[in-house]
Amino acid sequence: MRTVLVSGARRGIGAAIAARLLGEGHNVSIGLRGGEHPDWAGDASLRPYVERLHLVDYDALDRNAATRWVGEARERFGSIDTIVANAGIMIARSVIEANDDDVQAMFDVNVQAPRRLAKAAWDQLAECGQGRVIILSSLSGKRVKSAKAGSYALTKFAATALAHAIRHAGFDLGIRATAVCPGFVATDMALGVSDRPPELMTDPRDLARIVSLLISLPNEASVAEFAVNCQIEESF
Ligand SMILES: NC(=O)c1ccc[n+]([C@@H]2O[C@H](COP(=O)([O-])OP(=O)(O)OC[C@H]3O[C@@H](n4cnc5c(N)ncnc54)[C@H](OP(=O)(O)O)[C@@H]3O)[C@@H](O)[C@H]2O)c1
Repeated sequence: MRTVLVSGARRGIGAAIAARLLGEGHNVSIGLRGGEHPDWAGDASLRPYVERLHLVDYDALDRNAATRWVGEARERFGSIDTIVANAGIMIARSVIEANDDDVQAMFDVNVQAPRRLAKAAWDQLAECGQGRVIILSSLSGKRVKSAKAGSYALTKFAATALAHAIRHAGFDLGIRATAVCPGFVATDMALGVSDRPPELMTDPRDLARIVSLLISLPNEASVAEFAVNCQIEESF
């Protein structure tokens, strides 16, 4: 059983990951900004596990939020061994259309916030000897698919690099980091930018299965990147 922090789990991929890990019996601390929380206790299959659920206010744009969250989760569960940095934003503008604030906001949420989370939990991740960091990057962190995806891709390439950088920094401490790189996943984010029908996009619950597998692998089965796609492309 692991103690996992999942950011941005009010909806979309994060909610699917949190529900899956909770149902598997892990301790799950969810960082989410205001607004309505999912009705975790209303889901009969999760009801037996809700005592393992910890909800924390977390805004990825707040520089102090990661340290606060890690402190609260540690107080609740005693230790932390897994981070799933999922919260992310996409502003679908080319690098020419985007202004400085657009690019900065995506770097802050997609890159700086996951880096701060890993940094804040670093001693805990190292202490257990089997720390895991999952960065929800994107296939846009592997290739630039279109002009509109360009400025988002800048930040997702950096998110992929972040996972590699964490893997290098933590390998001798037993920390393993993976960049999970999906194409279109049927959530608000993809449905807002693609005409592809949701049933032809990757199901967020399948990403949750992938994350569940990744955090269960031993130190000797390090997965640096995990690309997953709902359509054919040259390399993914
Ligand atoms: N959907 C795709 O096709 C796709 C493909 C590749 C990669 N990804 C990546 O997968 C991750 C999850 O995406 P998704 O598809 O589930 O997107 P989504 O449906 O738009 O959900 C994004 C989540 O991130 C949270 N979030 C955004 N800004 C935040 C902030 N400042 N502080 C805290 N939470 C914040 C949102 O919180 P609120 O609910 O409060 O707004 C929401 O829970 C992202 O990193 C995304 O880039 C998605």
